[in-house]
Amino acid sequence: MQFDFGKNWLDFSRKALTAAKVTQAQTDFEKLFQGMDLTGKTFLDIGFGQGLSLLIAKQKGSIVIGCDVNPKCQEALQQTASLFSTGTNEIPVIIGSILDKAVLQQLKINDNQQFDIVHSWGVLHHTGNMQYALQQAASLVKENGYLVISIYNRHWTSPIWRIIKWLYCHSPSLLQKGLIYLFYPIIWLAKYLVTGKNPNKMTRGMDFLYNVVDWVGGYPYEYASIEEIELLLNKQGLVMVKAIPSQVPTGCNEFVFNNTTL
Ligand SMILES: C[S@@+](CC[C@H](N)C(=O)[O-])C[C@H]1O[C@@H](n2cnc3c(N)ncnc32)[C@H](O)[C@@H]1O
Repeated sequence: MQFDFGKNWLDFSRKALTAAKVTQAQTDFEKLFQGMDLTGKTFLDIGFGQGLSLLIAKQKGSIVIGCDVNPKCQEALQQTASLFSTGTNEIPVIIGSILDKAVLQQLKINDNQQFDIVHSWGVLHHTGNMQYALQQAASLVKENGYLVISIYNRHWTSPIWRIIKWLYCHSPSLLQKGLIYLFYPIIWLAKYLVTGKNPNKMTRGMDFLYNVVDWVGGYPYEYASIEEIELLLNKQGLVMVKAIPSQVPTGCNEFVFNNTTL
């Protein structure tokens, strides 16, 4: 059973997303893509969620396409687009799993085989088969193209979180709400103690409450250290260009890999 990411993103886009959050998402997107010219580049966003990265990449002149397993994300994308001057009309979207061979086939046909940039932020660890999902994503990157991903960091508490997330997804909605009430202050305090910053001040245009729901419910859940991800993608012929460690121990490490011809 998978957490309903689409419902959470749709609620976020409708109730919490503001123009200020969009500006912040643009700034953090630029930091991650620093040094890469996106103009005219083909850009695939796997697990586009609320659609912020898809819309920002389009604003930057990329030829974008999105893929997400949850159909509600298409609605969330439309909602998010209302805060952008670029519409969603010309953004092709495939609703399906990146683990599905038929989806991969569809993506390859749409873009003449491979993409200059494959982006997948906080997604591949939620598919139920992270290793295979990483291989699928890597196989979609053109020669000299980039794979830009983020993956949950491995921490001693990770197996405990996996049990909590499983419990959330297998509980009735009343108990789910109870778990959010229970964990909201715990996560707030833990984040404050680790970072020394106000946890309500999020990055990437996110919102603390919706992120807590995403974190507590986000199952399936896998994780890996920076070294484990590097090793796995090196085997796929990709070279790590950049790794940005997560701010908190159970957060997402960000990576930029190049499909080098060397
Ligand atoms: C935590 S959200 C990340 C959303 C967005 N990438 C971001 O950066 O905010 C994970 C997203 O991955 C999608 N997802 C999960 N499993 C997937 C799969 N097998 N194939 C494609 N998308 C998937 C979910 O529906 C959800 O929208």
